[in-house]
Amino acid sequence: MEAKASGVKMENIVATKMKQDKTREFEFTEEIFKKVCLLVKSHTGIVLADGKQDMVYGRLTRRLRALDLPDFDSYLKIIEQGDEEELIHLVNAITTNLTSFFREEHHFEYLKSNVFPELLEKNAPTRKIRIWSAGCSTGEEPYSIAITVREFFADYPGWDVKIIATDLDSNVVAKAAKGVYDKARVDGVSLEDKQRWMKRGKGDKSELVKMKAELQELITFKQLNLLHEWPIKGPIDIIFCRNVVIYFDKDTQRTLFARYADVLSTEGHLFIGHSENMFNVCDRFESLGRTIYQRIN
Ligand SMILES: C[S@@+](CC[C@H](N)C(=O)[O-])C[C@H]1O[C@@H](n2cnc3c(N)ncnc32)[C@H](O)[C@@H]1O
Repeated sequence: MEAKASGVKMENIVATKMKQDKTREFEFTEEIFKKVCLLVKSHTGIVLADGKQDMVYGRLTRRLRALDLPDFDSYLKIIEQGDEEELIHLVNAITTNLTSFFREEHHFEYLKSNVFPELLEKNAPTRKIRIWSAGCSTGEEPYSIAITVREFFADYPGWDVKIIATDLDSNVVAKAAKGVYDKARVDGVSLEDKQRWMKRGKGDKSELVKMKAELQELITFKQLNLLHEWPIKGPIDIIFCRNVVIYFDKDTQRTLFARYADVLSTEGHLFIGHSENMFNVCDRFESLGRTIYQRIN
């Protein structure tokens, strides 16, 4: 009975798979998927897990159609031949950009309650603070940092605080730099912060909000692949690299965190994502709890 039941289940799976394959506009074999995985890993560090076939197919078929290509082999040939522009499209199509304002709110509380007060003393001679949002996606993270900076440093005029915000995906960086969001994106932001730091659109833009210039002037947005050279001069006091390395393998994480330690100031802070950790990755940081780390050597 059990064998029959699982036999029926197996048949269903095969039938569904065949149906999926038949309805696919382009042939997408396991071999093609593996080739895409290798290309993506070598250019971005992102490891595409098994099971991501449908996602990859869905995102890349748009490129095949845009280029009027007959199949995936022709597409991969273009990438393998080193077409830089198409590589950007490929990378932009593959990245996952999920983010939100004040995501993991305790990180922003910690900036206000611990990190900024410490820096007031530590950086008193220069009155300079540098913050890096690495993997900033569409900008919600650096704007949340900027609001926190503006609110805290309102009582400490004369401090030179700057945020550099970078991401691999050029489309999200362009959106972040504009600082314009659908009203629904800022639903979780307090009314007070919305009124103080954002402008409501008018007329046909009434469903949009724009970040105020006071926030935008604190942030420099740049496209940057974390695997490549960084045009970033240290020391950086605070790095946010949240929900980025979750897509990388341990070796890539090891290299990246060691480079973060190199660029961070002595006792500089590193904030990572809620499902990420430093275990077996880098011993140059000490955990302060709740995915907050401090450089120790
Ligand atoms: C899930 S989002 C996280 C956004 C934000 N940090 C947060 O926590 O809300 C991950 C971002 O990492 C970026 N990313 C992935 N690989 C990257 C790489 N090699 N260099 C720079 N950014 C990368 C993606 O483009 C994406 O926007």
